[in-house]
Amino acid sequence: MSNANIEETKQQLHYMEQLHDMIEEKVQKTGKRPTYKVVNFGCQMNAKDAEKLSGILNKIGYVEAETEEADFVLYNTCTVRENANLKVYGRLGHLKTLKKKNPDMLIALCGCMMQEQEVVDKIKESYRFVDIIFGTHNIFKFAELLKARLDSGEMIIDIWKDTTEIVEDLPAERKYSFKCGVNIMYGCNNFCTYCIVPYVRGRERSREIADIVKEVEQLVADGVVEVMLLGQNVNSYGKTLEPKVSFADLLKELDKVEGLERIRFMTPHPKDITDDFIEVLANSKKICNHLHLPLQSGSTRLLKKMNRHYTKERYLEIVNQVRERIPNIAITTDIIVGFPGETEEDFLETMDVVEKAQYDGAFTFIYSKRTGTPAAVMPDQVPEDVVKERFDRLLARVQEISSKSHGQLQGTTQTVLVEEVNHQDPSMVTGRLTNNTTVHLKGNEQMIGKIFRVNLVESKGFYYIGELAE
Ligand code: SAH
Ligand code: SF4
Ligand code: F3S
Repeated sequence: MSNANIEETKQQLHYMEQLHDMIEEKVQKTGKRPTYKVVNFGCQMNAKDAEKLSGILNKIGYVEAETEEADFVLYNTCTVRENANLKVYGRLGHLKTLKKKNPDMLIALCGCMMQEQEVVDKIKESYRFVDIIFGTHNIFKFAELLKARLDSGEMIIDIWKDTTEIVEDLPAERKYSFKCGVNIMYGCNNFCTYCIVPYVRGRERSREIADIVKEVEQLVADGVVEVMLLGQNVNSYGKTLEPKVSFADLLKELDKVEGLERIRFMTPHPKDITDDFIEVLANSKKICNHLHLPLQSGSTRLLKKMNRHYTKERYLEIVNQVRERIPNIAITTDIIVGFPGETEEDFLETMDVVEKAQYDGAFTFIYSKRTGTPAAVMPDQVPEDVVKERFDRLLARVQEISSKSHGQLQGTTQTVLVEEVNHQDPSMVTGRLTNNTTVHLKGNEQMIGKIFRVNLVESKGFYYIGELAE
């Protein structure tokens, strides 16, 4: 049995029909079709939500605009680090100017930042020109909220604290015809002490395997060859389902979907990596040769304070096991510098993991204090200049190591999924290896979305130049 709320989906489709009629009537009168622009500030899960918003807007008769000079602008916000918030406030100033020129313009704010009470208070107080505010849990209600705004002419605010709902099967606009993100779960139950995501995305909810498989089959029938399974902690997938299933179980089912060529996923958590999972990774022909495995810190002492539930040794054990079972796999990571109480010794432990794991790439972040998280009130916040110095040291080393790992496949033949015509040279196309490295080769538009065997003739550091294999 599906655990999605089908009644709610029907209800929302009904609102979309009503809006469609309203918009068409307006088009008849003005001779102009209204335009929209969705701007995304967050992670891949937010990007997926943005596709859902675009899908609804297309369905009701809006057309997408290139810029924010549109009739309807939506900011899908992120709040994982302070910078993300500052960016939104900065750009709202610009929207205000645009709205002065086009008073009928609508502005909506949604996404993770809106789940914070202080943010909504500030917008109500100082950004009165915003028309609709909603959060992460009720994004499926977007059509209903838009209709409420058009009917009432008032600012509409609808934020849910949490939800157990899963509402699917609403229209979604796909950015690419050949690859697509697929939500397998929502929310997060881990409460890493620095992280705001569990507060703004709510409790963990997994979709049923059958629903996910059905969605992927439909996508494949529609031309998709690569899916990215999305969740805050994908390998805790299924723990909340009855009966319980595992991420490995889901991967095994998806591996069987005919016509699906590549499976990616984001993000697994080291504490939930099992031998069974590594076996599936090793045995699957479809799962890509890439594991993004966030480290956060190499110091077992700090990992404990971060509530990560693994040690430095266990993390390195996973990396070794994975590299042994799956030669040539690319391993990438996320690292935070300057978590409260981080000493030079702690930091050197992180540097040590970086040496030993030999990452193919790493996203490095300066710790950002998020109000409401346990870490925000921990003593010994590290001074800015100390953090900056450590951050620079880490970044330099990470870059040195990852540049060494590049180029290892030069001279071999690999599969490349062609994604686009090259921006600089239209006689070339650009695609990706399963380990996510970029390859440029001679080609044309017809190749987009297809997989080719390619000789990797020359490594150029972060990318390869290839030639179609015979
Ligand atoms: N669920 C994913 C990551 C979500 S956020 C996971 O657990 O891996 C993406 C990355 O942002 C995290 O891996 C972490 O490195 C970083 N991050 C999260 N909160 C942060 C904070 N308060 N300051 C700095 N970086 C943070
Ligand atoms: Fe944040 Fe940790 Fe959940 Fe990732 S696993 S979203 S870092 S709380
Ligand atoms: Fe940001 Fe929300 Fe993603 S806070 S990182 S957009 S889950």
